[in-house]
Order: sequence, then structure tokens, then C-alpha cells
Amino acid sequence: MNTKPGRSRPTLSERADELEEKMMHDLSERIATRSTLFYLGDGKVEMAQGQALLAANPGRHFLMGADPRLPPMPEKPTLIDFFKARFATTAHLLQSATHALKGGQPEKVVLACLLHDIGVASFIRCDHGYWGAQMIEPYVDEEVSWAVRMHQALRFFPDASVGYEYPELYIKFFGDDYKPEPYIVAEYERARNHKWYMTSRLITMNDIYSFDPNAKVDLNDFVDIIGRNFKQPKEGLGFDNSPSSHMWRTLMWPTRFL
Ligand SMILES: [Fe+2]
Ligand SMILES: [Fe+2]
Repeated sequence: MNTKPGRSRPTLSERADELEEKMMHDLSERIATRSTLFYLGDGKVEMAQGQALLAANPGRHFLMGADPRLPPMPEKPTLIDFFKARFATTAHLLQSATHALKGGQPEKVVLACLLHDIGVASFIRCDHGYWGAQMIEPYVDEEVSWAVRMHQALRFFPDASVGYEYPELYIKFFGDDYKPEPYIVAEYERARNHKWYMTSRLITMNDIYSFDPNAKVDLNDFVDIIGRNFKQPKEGLGFDNSPSSHMWRTLMWPTRFL
């Protein structure tokens, strides 16, 4: 922030300038706003101030729809459209699903692997299993969304009976003294005795980070499996009035003012 010496707080107009610089983009007269969560991610407890932004941008209005900086979405978006235009990376998802497919797993498991990290790929890392499961819950078999939710906890717990070990990568990521929080331990204990435990365990077993670089992965290989196992709403994801429609809309329009 551009504060003058001897003055600890910026003036209102300096603050408005800063907001303008940060948040006003040349969007055909529209102002795109960043949500509070975006600021929290930068380590700041802050929010966009509507009145200050308007004052700094006379004659302009806030963006209330598509952000032209992002790839356009069709009027009735499908899961495939989100894969192509909103998921920051699909390699890991495709690799996991390909691994499950080659291992002869049922379609339900292949779909669960294909979708297991969409929370991370599209929304947020913290509690990604829960976010991802909630997004897909209205559209998949209950076993699939359950498995996606639980894989987050199961990843931290070995299962010698199927040869699953604590991921080496987690030691690198979190240190060798990291212990999952009590809510994750409790979730694991609930999942361990559940009838669908093995479905979620299979996600963790196909959840690989090193993959044959020569193996070809292609979203087209999964279009039929998606077609048979993901109930694509005819109105488009986001417009079908399901309990998670708002999540798909937010992903489509992440900078809408409201
Ligand atoms: Fe995951
Ligand atoms: Fe994963």
C-alpha cells in the first residue's frame, strides 16, 4: 500500500485508488469484484467495498454475469464443459481414472476416480473431498459421492490388507510429524466400517501422483462413462435447482458482485 511517511492509515482516496487498481479490470464498463475468500487466501481479512469501488469508477456498474477474462461457458453447461473451461488441471483426475479403468474397476469406481479431486481442481483445497462430494451429490449414485467425500480422510490411513501405504508425497508435503486432525480421524473410523469403504479405498489406491509419462490420457475416453453415470441436467449444471446448483454457478461466475 502506498502510505506516506508518518501516517499509518491510508486516506479514503488512497484506499479507493488501491481498490480500483486491484479490482477494476477493463471489462466493457463492468467492474469485477473479488470475494472475501479471495482476500483471505492472500492473508487479509478484507472485503470489496461496493460504494468505494463505484465512487472510483464513475458511470460503471458491477459485473453480474460472465467474466470476460475467463473462458466462455455455454448456456446449458455440462460436466465436460466444466472440465474444459473451469478445472485448473485435469491431468491428475484423468490419470487416476485411467489407472482405475486399466485395473478393470467398475464404472462407478472409474467415475469416482475421475471426480475425486474436482474440489481442488475447481474450488478450494481445504476439505476438498467434502466440497467435491457436495457438488456431484445430486447427479451421481450415492456410493460415488460418499466415496469422494471419504477419500480425503482415507488417504491418511494405511490399509495393509490391500497394500495401501501412507503416501510418501504427504511426508514431503506436510512433514513426517503431521497428524490428521481429530475430525479426520473420526471420519476415517466411521468410513472404515461402512459398507462402501472399499469404493473409497479404491479411489485412494488409484490416486497416484507418478504416472507413466508415455501413457495417453484423454477426457474423450470417459465421455461414455460420464454419460451413463452422471445425470447431466437438461437445464445445464447450475440451472437445475439442485442442492448444489449454486456451487456450479459460482464456479461459472466467480466474480459476480452478488
Ligand atoms: Fe484428494
Ligand atoms: Fe487425488
